[in-house]
Amino acid sequence: MSSSTVAAEPLLTATSEAVAREAQAGLTANPKTLSPWLFYDEAGSRLFEQITQLPEYYLTRTERGIFTTYADDIIRHAAASDLASSPALTLIELGAGTATKTGILLAAAVRQQGSIVYQPVDVSESALAEASENILANIPGVTVRCQVADYTREPLPLDRLPNTRTLALYIGSSIGNFSPTDAVDVLSNLRDQLQPGDVLLLGTDLAPGPHKTTADLLAAYDDASGTTAAFNLNVLTRLNRDLGANFNIAAFGHKAIWNPTESRIEMHLESLRPQTVTIPATATTPKLTLHFRQGETIHTENSHKFSPAAISSLLSQSRFATSQTWHDPNHLFAVTLATAL
Ligand code: AVI
Repeated sequence: MSSSTVAAEPLLTATSEAVAREAQAGLTANPKTLSPWLFYDEAGSRLFEQITQLPEYYLTRTERGIFTTYADDIIRHAAASDLASSPALTLIELGAGTATKTGILLAAAVRQQGSIVYQPVDVSESALAEASENILANIPGVTVRCQVADYTREPLPLDRLPNTRTLALYIGSSIGNFSPTDAVDVLSNLRDQLQPGDVLLLGTDLAPGPHKTTADLLAAYDDASGTTAAFNLNVLTRLNRDLGANFNIAAFGHKAIWNPTESRIEMHLESLRPQTVTIPATATTPKLTLHFRQGETIHTENSHKFSPAAISSLLSQSRFATSQTWHDPNHLFAVTLATAL
């Protein structure tokens, strides 16, 4: 039997004060920055969904292809990582969103063990409601327990069932949006809430190689339709709406850069001319008067691209042992299973 519950905690949407504090800290820094969580208001979340379907943005369809090809193998390995016993898996997903790819793994788990409990965690209640509805309608045998929470700031609401092994999913290369130190913190916090023998399935976008040029990477973050540009610029629209700022959106441009030293794509918003922008005071932040030089940028996102060694190092620093990796044929993307030590 399937069910869906949403935790009765207050919804953790970003308040205008949180947006104001972020703007105050980031836009008075040198160089100017804004944190990528600001992307994901309603319009930004819609734009991100569109990005995942762009021809240039290979990440989502490549990871989905890996799941389609290897789901049974992935679930078999996850369940049998401890050869002494093979308890049923329960599945928890960090930042699940609408969980469009996860159904492939859930269907494989149901094939293998008859039924499964799935606990998607996300800040967006509406995304979780959509995920739950789709999964319950399409995959009999799945029990969905949605948890509205911000896994980057608070302990995971892990609901551990007796005699089960937890498979934690952290897919979509979301880990790549953290600095290397913060990525270790996120995975270490997850590890703290797992038991030895539990498993993590981590999706990571790979660094350039024989089948991936830096031009391919740049196109994925600066597509011909301008969807990624709109996603980036939407941050300024959000500051205008939430804080009453007076950014002239047409006076900023989207910029994607490959930084080989840090192995990351950087997204910036570039001031197209010298200009001054004001952001009114809020209850907790002073009025800001911001001066921009022509060509000055606001750094809005990093998207790290990993080598196999960097993935193993990240996992071992977070107290996981790499056990198996699956790739697409062109080695664009990696899905790595790791065991909690
Ligand atoms: C959510 N995250 C994995 C995306 C990425 O590829 O870093 C966010 C994104 N930014 C621009 N395009 C997509």
